[in-house]
Amino acid sequence: MMKFADRYGPWAVVAGASEGTGRAFARQIAACGVSCILLARRAAPLAAVVAEIRAQSGVECLSAAVDLAAPDAMERIIAAVGTREVGLYVGNAGADPHGSSFLDRDIGIWLDLSRRNSITTMQCCHHFGRAMRARRKGGLLLVNSGACYSGASSMAVYSASKAFLLCLGEGLWAELRDDGVDVLNLVLGRTDTPEFRRILAEKGVPVPDNIASADDVARVGLERLPFGPVHNWGVADDVTGFAPNSAAARRERIVLIDASSKQLFNRN
Ligand SMILES: NC(=O)c1ccc[n+]([C@@H]2O[C@H](COP(=O)([O-])OP(=O)(O)OC[C@H]3O[C@@H](n4cnc5c(N)ncnc54)[C@H](OP(=O)(O)O)[C@@H]3O)[C@@H](O)[C@H]2O)c1
Repeated sequence: MMKFADRYGPWAVVAGASEGTGRAFARQIAACGVSCILLARRAAPLAAVVAEIRAQSGVECLSAAVDLAAPDAMERIIAAVGTREVGLYVGNAGADPHGSSFLDRDIGIWLDLSRRNSITTMQCCHHFGRAMRARRKGGLLLVNSGACYSGASSMAVYSASKAFLLCLGEGLWAELRDDGVDVLNLVLGRTDTPEFRRILAEKGVPVPDNIASADDVARVGLERLPFGPVHNWGVADDVTGFAPNSAAARRERIVLIDASSKQLFNRN
């Protein structure tokens, strides 16, 4: 096994890194000796995480205040990264703060959510993934939600954006698995993050018991990264859990589809 920093360094980009699971990913990646570029909208909480990581890990850390929903988000990310070699991209930002039915809100908020969750994430996978493929190493880790497996009321656009990520990640895993680039959809259930607490507080709902901790989520996500394309939170690879099929069954299906399409189109 290559050491984490050899496989995923020298730089990681974590999108949505100022708090919660994103912050936990950044701290754990830095503790493994990989320098970090942190993205979020609010500069002050980002600066606090940067200071903490610099003090505790000794690796380089910098941040850029970028709205991932903005049409120019990718240009701003590219400008912030510069010529640094990115071996790991974590697409973490992606919760739905609205929790309301599709037609009851203006289309603008759904366009923003789609751009942040689907379009900008896809652009990052394309931009960073190309360089990873050329170097024949790296990782793309997409933080997903159990909502990716079905639509539901008050979650139509959120679940659609997560289904997009699920299929994107599975397809990229199939395309890149022979090129040394790991791709994982980390499919989460309820997780104790400031954003989840804000949503619960707004609706007057108490924080449920036994929800996952952000640190555990980040640890398991990084551990499972070489074993994509899917990890369903809290269940073993061959167990279905809350999903319609297990991660192992999905992997098997993708490999079969891939082989059949390669045979049809006469590709290697
Ligand atoms: N928490 C749960 O129960 C749960 C359950 C299932 C799946 N998940 C998934 O886990 C991931 C993390 O969720 P979370 O609860 O921590 O909430 P989140 O809002 O997705 O993530 C919070 C982080 O993302 C940043 N962020 C949010 N919108 C952004 C934007 N437009 N541009 C740039 N940065 C943005 C926030 O900083 P700024 O506010 O400063 O931008 C913060 O750093 C998401 O992908 C979510 O779908 C969470």
